[in-house]
Amino acid sequence: MLPTNRRRILRALATAPLAAFAWPGALRAQQDQAAKEQASTSDGGPFVPTPWVILDEMLKLAEIQRTDVVFDLGSGDGRLVIAAAKRFGARGVGVERDGNLVNFSRRQATSEGVGERVRFVQADLFETDLREATVITTYLLPRLMPRLVPKLRTELPVGARIVSHDYPLAPWPPDKTLLFDVEEKLMINGTVETKLFYYVVPARIAGNWTLRVEQPLPIDALALSVEQAPDRLDGTARMAGFDAPLREFSVRADQVRFGLLHETRLLEFRGKVAGDTMTGEVRARGEAARWTARRAG
Ligand SMILES: C[S@@+](CC[C@H](N)C(=O)[O-])C[C@H]1O[C@@H](n2cnc3c(N)ncnc32)[C@H](O)[C@@H]1O
Repeated sequence: MLPTNRRRILRALATAPLAAFAWPGALRAQQDQAAKEQASTSDGGPFVPTPWVILDEMLKLAEIQRTDVVFDLGSGDGRLVIAAAKRFGARGVGVERDGNLVNFSRRQATSEGVGERVRFVQADLFETDLREATVITTYLLPRLMPRLVPKLRTELPVGARIVSHDYPLAPWPPDKTLLFDVEEKLMINGTVETKLFYYVVPARIAGNWTLRVEQPLPIDALALSVEQAPDRLDGTARMAGFDAPLREFSVRADQVRFGLLHETRLLEFRGKVAGDTMTGEVRARGEAARWTARRAG
């Protein structure tokens, strides 16, 4: 004999419409499908080591310093992280989903004498916190790259450098692209052509700002509105009831530049972004003044 409360639940289930039974199964099927899609979209491909001659160019392009923390996403046998530590004294983190490669990398780091400066983590790179990294290296399949872009642009510190072997971080336009012919790549790709894509993480300046210019330039406070996407930077300044576009608007690491036609004068702004403040100098027809913009709201 079942206890009374249990029987009541059984009767409720027995009289429930069919759809209510179908629902938990359908949900599970949907969740399984989503997990499968998630697994396949985070698959950056099998282990193929970057040839040493390309590795040299990647580290050179990133201009690695002793103060850097180099993350290789999908670190394979650990060669990029170990070389960055050995040659430049940098610290490094290899993120690799394959446990055997992680163990191999750890042994290799110890035998190369950099075991104290590097660590290897067995993890999915999409589940890894990248906030500590100042340099990122990757050699992953192109289908993964668009998904990586928002993660890199949100988590990495402003000014962090990224070097990607062969595949760009579309749709983000690279700051530099290098092309090489490398014999070893013939076996891997069927072509000797090799590309390196270099990116610098820009300051995050989307939103509304209030801009003030100091004496001697007689300009009232302006409301700036900025839209920022990986492949686009647009801004306007509200002046006398209409929106004037910011011209030749660019942000590279923490350096911002734009022009603004104010009455009949072209104002040329250059400055530096630090969180919710931008400061710099504005020039117009031989005159110069300091300016400051603060994030509104
Ligand atoms: C082409 S190899 C590059 C290895 C190394 N970075 C190099 O350049 O020599 C790609 C590596 O990424 C790893 N990988 C692929 N998808 C991954 C993911 N989602 N998370 C972590 N590692 C991943 C693979 O196991 C493989 O070792």
